[in-house]
Amino acid sequence: MASETTAGLAGVVAGRTAIATVGKEGKGLTYRGYSINDLAGQATFEEVAFLLIYGRLPTESELSDYQEALRGQRSLPGPLKTVLEQIPASAHPMDVMRTGCSALGALEPEGKGRDQTAVANRLTACFSSLLLYWHHLHASGRRIDTASDEGSTAGHFLRLLHGKKPDELKRRAVDVSLILYAEHEFNASTFAARTIISTLPDFYSAVTGAIGALRGPLHGGANEAAMALIERFSAPDEAEKGILGMLAAKQLIMGFGHRVYKISDPRSDVIKAWSKKLAEAAGDERLYPVSERIERVMWREKRLFPNLDFYSATAYHLCGIPTPMFTPLFVVSRISGWSAHIIEQRGDNRLIRPTAEYVGPEPRPFVPISQR
Ligand code: COA
Repeated sequence: MASETTAGLAGVVAGRTAIATVGKEGKGLTYRGYSINDLAGQATFEEVAFLLIYGRLPTESELSDYQEALRGQRSLPGPLKTVLEQIPASAHPMDVMRTGCSALGALEPEGKGRDQTAVANRLTACFSSLLLYWHHLHASGRRIDTASDEGSTAGHFLRLLHGKKPDELKRRAVDVSLILYAEHEFNASTFAARTIISTLPDFYSAVTGAIGALRGPLHGGANEAAMALIERFSAPDEAEKGILGMLAAKQLIMGFGHRVYKISDPRSDVIKAWSKKLAEAAGDERLYPVSERIERVMWREKRLFPNLDFYSATAYHLCGIPTPMFTPLFVVSRISGWSAHIIEQRGDNRLIRPTAEYVGPEPRPFVPISQR
């Protein structure tokens, strides 16, 4: 009997995990049993990354050692800088993340003296560094020193980007966004990472593939596409008209809808509140009101709600982060979730290799080239 196929594997349980629940009845979004609201309200990104990678919350001294370890690994090896210098200014920053990750895998391979958690921590520590090293080289010709004494990943990113101590409101906004972006069960990039690692390659190969999967606008790339959309409108009425036109033309509105969530994305309320706070602090009277109107129109017309990417766009913009860095920042965070899944998959591995329903031609005789 032919088995049923499900487009996009929607609703298919494709494995087991103890890392996160997404939209599960009575649980909502949790990382290792902790609710996303508690984590975003009370934890730091480093506590969350530790929780995901090591499986439990750190004590105060473990957290301080972990932060110290990350701080100590923000510099880049010379050959990696040389590789980054070859990537043209016209490249998308996600090219930089993917190439940087792959190159580091050749320079600092996983293996003797460098286990999987060491690789996870190295990538967590230096993803911002490699992006901003490349960025400044092309923006101003400067080869920046990527070491910084900022204690947090968010602070390190903003410090390197703007070249000064970050404003605390913005730093915490980015910190919270990193918590929200850190993990989300079997999303496309995580499943890609698990599929790759199930063939038993090195850690970096799985992360490099995951970066590729994250980049598309149906996944992580949606935050950049959402910003491009919001920026097109100068006022809420104009936004309403524009969105109605796009819906009539059956276009996708980036930053809305979700494969698993059906009523709302629990992360959206959190980042929306931060977006509002940042808009008030900046005296913004355009982006946030335009975003809110788009949200209202989408609910009224399509019963579609904003996902994390929609209000992250305005929040990041108001933190002074250039739009092409939005998805790379997602990588800076999601490396923690990918790492947790790679480690979990390796702990109980079976090759991921499903089967396909065949819809091609019936068996037929081969026709030699001279007779075609
Ligand atoms: N804008 C307009 N219509 C949308 C929409 C959006 N953002 N998201 C879903 N829809 C519509 C679809 O066109 C479809 O309509 P139809 O039944 O008339 O054909 C219906 O809602 C169901 O959507 P579907 O594409 O089957 O959902 P999915 O589970 O396959 O896709 C997403 C989920 C996230 C890929 C999809 O909602 C989307 O493309 N969103 C925009 C990209 C985005 O924000 N991605 C980030 C996700 S966190």
